[in-house]
Amino acid sequence: MPVAVTGGAGFIGGHVTAALAAAGHRVLVVDDLSTGSAANLDGVAGDIDLLQADVADPVLASALRAAEVQVVCHLAAAIDVRASVADPVQDALRNVVGTVAVLQSASQADVGKVVFASSGGSIYGSATPPPVAESAVIAPESPYAASKAAAELWLQTFHRLHGLRWTALALANVYGPHQDPAGEAGVISLFSARMLAGLPTTIYGDGSQTRDFVYVKDVAAAFLLACELPVEGLRLNIGTGVETSVRQLHTELAGLCGAPDEPRMEPARPGELHRSALDAARARQLLGWELQTGLRTGLAETVEWLRADLAAAPRAGDSGPRRF
Ligand SMILES: NC(=O)c1ccc[n+]([C@@H]2O[C@H](COP(=O)([O-])OP(=O)(O)OC[C@H]3O[C@@H](n4cnc5c(N)ncnc54)[C@H](O)[C@@H]3O)[C@@H](O)[C@H]2O)c1
Repeated sequence: MPVAVTGGAGFIGGHVTAALAAAGHRVLVVDDLSTGSAANLDGVAGDIDLLQADVADPVLASALRAAEVQVVCHLAAAIDVRASVADPVQDALRNVVGTVAVLQSASQADVGKVVFASSGGSIYGSATPPPVAESAVIAPESPYAASKAAAELWLQTFHRLHGLRWTALALANVYGPHQDPAGEAGVISLFSARMLAGLPTTIYGDGSQTRDFVYVKDVAAAFLLACELPVEGLRLNIGTGVETSVRQLHTELAGLCGAPDEPRMEPARPGELHRSALDAARARQLLGWELQTGLRTGLAETVEWLRADLAAAPRAGDSGPRRF
């Protein structure tokens, strides 16, 4: 079936595109390459189409119609939480108005369904102790989180108005190959890249803060299931339910990278949640989604990929030394 992936040249979108293509779906990637890279699609380059465009560009509707797209996976977004605090208007333009534009184009092109990348790691805030289920109160503590929660309301609204079906996957902290250590990366690729380069690492706070780290290929599998199954009108958490402290993570990665387990400790940064983990029972029950990759295996695969990526020649378009 023809599927479009907005943000398909990004970290998670690249894996979603690969999973869809491997399952035999025809994929149209729509990405403005603002933070993504065509290199994230190297493995499937011959099998997919790439439209380099902003999702707010009206060309989206005609492209979706021409490709007879039935499902849109909407992952295009600005993901930098601190940037959203500094410039909430820009965040809302990309993440709220961008989503409304995708929904409008999807309706105009008679797309049946949208699968949306929401953020389970942020929309629930710190109001409910982990592991947090979908029934928990929505309590955003950043403009980024508010934009994801607002986008979910727009999904509901377009369904009522135009019958556009939807599923929101509320992702925990996603990690794995292709996460850019120089971007607003997860802590795993940042620590690993610095350790492999022999650079010091910093933990903000006392390191007891926890996150729910979920492997990107397991996340891509959830998108594939959500595209294929008639599970609709719901948010589904995608996470492991396991809390891992940042200090514990540092120890694991130091072992894998052969680096000293001696982070610099700096004061906690305001606005960061202290604990985070998601209850994914609903996704297991309704999608049949199962976690395939434990943290240790996922970390080893991530470090292996990063080691090879850092050793390789600079990517086309890159200039100067890599920074992270
Ligand atoms: N990484 C995580 O841990 C995590 C957790 C929860 C939710 N999410 C969500 O998953 C999605 C993908 O995140 P990621 O980590 O892969 O980030 P990413 O920055 O690697 O990917 C985002 C992609 O969207 C593209 N993009 C951004 N704005 C666009 C626009 N207006 N038009 C077209 N393309 C645009 C970028 O070029 C990039 O390729 C985002 O919606 C993010 O909010 C990520």
